[in-house]
Amino acid sequence: SKKWVLMATARSPTNIAVIKYWGKRDETLILPVNGSISVTLDPSHLSATTTVAVSPSFDRDRMWLNGKEILLSGGRFQSCLREIRRRAEDVEDEERGICIKREDWEGLHVHIASFNNFPTAAGLASSAAGFACLVFALAKLMNVKEETTELSSIARQGSGSACRSLYGGFVKWAMGNKEDGSDSIAVQLANETHWEDLVILIAVVCSRQKETSSTTGMRESVETSSLLQYRSQVVVPRRLIQMEEAIQKRDFPSFAKLTCADSNQFHAVCLDTSPPIFYMNDTSHRHVQLCFLVYCICLFIRLLDYRNFQDRWNQFEGTPQVTYTYDAGPNAVLIAPNRKVAHLLLQRMLFYFPPPSEKELDSYVLGDTSILQ
Ligand code: PMV
Repeated sequence: SKKWVLMATARSPTNIAVIKYWGKRDETLILPVNGSISVTLDPSHLSATTTVAVSPSFDRDRMWLNGKEILLSGGRFQSCLREIRRRAEDVEDEERGICIKREDWEGLHVHIASFNNFPTAAGLASSAAGFACLVFALAKLMNVKEETTELSSIARQGSGSACRSLYGGFVKWAMGNKEDGSDSIAVQLANETHWEDLVILIAVVCSRQKETSSTTGMRESVETSSLLQYRSQVVVPRRLIQMEEAIQKRDFPSFAKLTCADSNQFHAVCLDTSPPIFYMNDTSHRHVQLCFLVYCICLFIRLLDYRNFQDRWNQFEGTPQVTYTYDAGPNAVLIAPNRKVAHLLLQRMLFYFPPPSEKELDSYVLGDTSILQ
């Protein structure tokens, strides 16, 4: 009968890179010019939820994003679908009398409905959550038995950063050096319980779609930026090692310095691109200054303890209290070492950038990830 429909639903969080991926050496397979490291956010805040359905009555593959149908002509969706279909296994639902053989999948079409609970394409890595979720849901539907690492390399072919969203916690995407991309995969460095004190705040300063897509931006940077060559060959390999160590040791000062330095360099590469790309705006620059203001306030508070002046000074000097990172958009991702500092940061933010209501202050500090609008 043509009446049955089989479905699977998944939810994937987005991830924020602390060592950025920018530049592809192979645009079809999506192979990066350097490795990257990210932190996966709590799925209850920024995530994609995707339902995939298969039925013999579907005459073609179709997809809806946030309720609107989108064309599936783009090669990226097709790559993910093709790779999952190739690995599909037999599926049996005895209760409903459904039996799909491995070889049947080629002739069956899917319908995909995906929702983001945050602005799409505003530089908040919506494609990361979206493709990770799509691949995971399709793999469940088609009974794919592959390990998460293998799924990460399929998600990578949808959107590079998506390969990192298949794991929670801290994740590294190794650039790999094989031409077929089989070693360009994501691995988990530490799970979500490893560094629970960290608080990540996201300040949504603009939820409009970005002007330069990351695909176009990367292509132009690879073609024109000499800083990108230096970054990918010299700076990032060193930073990946240092960042891994900082994460393992939960060493916030090193983590913070590396994170903001890498974000700054990524945006410097954008400026070094011809024509230059501007992702940060005036508000973003003020958020960066705010991080340094919080640093000064913390320093002042500690120095009030005169007895230990010298000790306090030594302990504090050059130690950032909050760090920031920006993706391809003006929204700040601020990372504080604990709730106390996050609270101070929020108070300052509320002072300079008042949110709609006081009540929201509580919700900002309750979760690990928060949206400030
Ligand atoms: O995966 P894409 O094509 O959306 O590229 C994302 C690139 C950055 O978000 C700017 C950096 C990163 O590593 O996520």
